[in-house]
Amino acid sequence: MDKLILSNGIEIPPIGLGTYPMYGDTLTNSVISAYKAGFRLIDTADNYYNEKDLGESLAKLYEKTSANRNELFIVTKLSDELYPAGTIGGGANRGIYFWKNSSLMQSPNAVRNIIEQKLSNSLQCLKTDYLDALLMHWPYPDYFEEIWYEMERLYKKGIVRSIGVCNCRERHFEKLKVSSEIFPMINQFETSPLNTKFPLLKYCDDHNVKVMIYSPLKSLQYKNQQEYHEYIRKVSEKYGKNPVQIILRFDIQRGMIPIPKSSNAARLQSNINIFDFSLTDEEMDKLMNFNLDLAYMPESRSCPGL
Ligand SMILES: NC(=O)c1ccc[n+]([C@@H]2O[C@H](COP(=O)([O-])OP(=O)(O)OC[C@H]3O[C@@H](n4cnc5c(N)ncnc54)[C@H](OP(=O)(O)O)[C@@H]3O)[C@@H](O)[C@H]2O)c1
Repeated sequence: MDKLILSNGIEIPPIGLGTYPMYGDTLTNSVISAYKAGFRLIDTADNYYNEKDLGESLAKLYEKTSANRNELFIVTKLSDELYPAGTIGGGANRGIYFWKNSSLMQSPNAVRNIIEQKLSNSLQCLKTDYLDALLMHWPYPDYFEEIWYEMERLYKKGIVRSIGVCNCRERHFEKLKVSSEIFPMINQFETSPLNTKFPLLKYCDDHNVKVMIYSPLKSLQYKNQQEYHEYIRKVSEKYGKNPVQIILRFDIQRGMIPIPKSSNAARLQSNINIFDFSLTDEEMDKLMNFNLDLAYMPESRSCPGL
């Protein structure tokens, strides 16, 4: 299982564990099982409200196994929801940030203050003094470049080892090309054989932006795509793998980082057991040709037109 390299030279595991929506013991069991299966990258976000539970899960992981913080790659995200100052783990009084009409954005240096508070909260929850990747959860149009500027500052300070975005299209990157000093290292979005997003993938490839794939298994939910399911089943039988493994292998062979979520130890083991076979070029092409631009998650369907 070779690691990939981000544009700033740091290593990143080729597959990760999605953690939404998992909490408490379910999350702890998933994190420990995932580590034992070989997962080293863990994805969360401030607005999954599970960073505190993830921090506690990590503490149990370090206690019960030989795992240590430095071998993990922890990803969290900055969202427009923020828990009130002083609380950890969020919950009730959610605020809406990063929108011009929000009363919470009226104070001077609001973006900087919110991001610093948010980061400090994430670090405290996750029981760590650095992050491996900090991603902007969505290209919030009113403050997109300003948020990115603050993320660059955190990167330069060394508190985050890499910075990136989620759900961004070519036009968002073009904005940053003009205004920013550091180009995003990661773009996390939804893509699958039914939603190949070829132009965006090419753009990311051309600009050395690593693609992290969320909701990588959702294409299997489209029950009406019979030809697709039949083909996946045929390929699964050929390799003695299951359909999920074929999809994840397809992602890996495109040089992307899928982050499937599972709360089940056997499925976690199976999801990472994809490094002992390869799809042929013909099979990759055939899978790519199922594209129908079917985006499953709402956040991947709409995007602000900056
Ligand atoms: N940046 C963003 O805007 C964004 C948006 C959405 C999600 N995400 C991140 O991406 C992660 C993954 O996305 P997701 O959770 O939406 O979807 P997903 O990982 O594609 O699918 C998760 C579902 O698949 C099931 N599953 C996992 N492995 C399986 C297997 N081998 N066989 C059968 N079923 C299996 C899981 O059930 P069990 O748990 O029961 O196994 C769960 O119901 C999230 O957890 C989150 O970290 C990011």
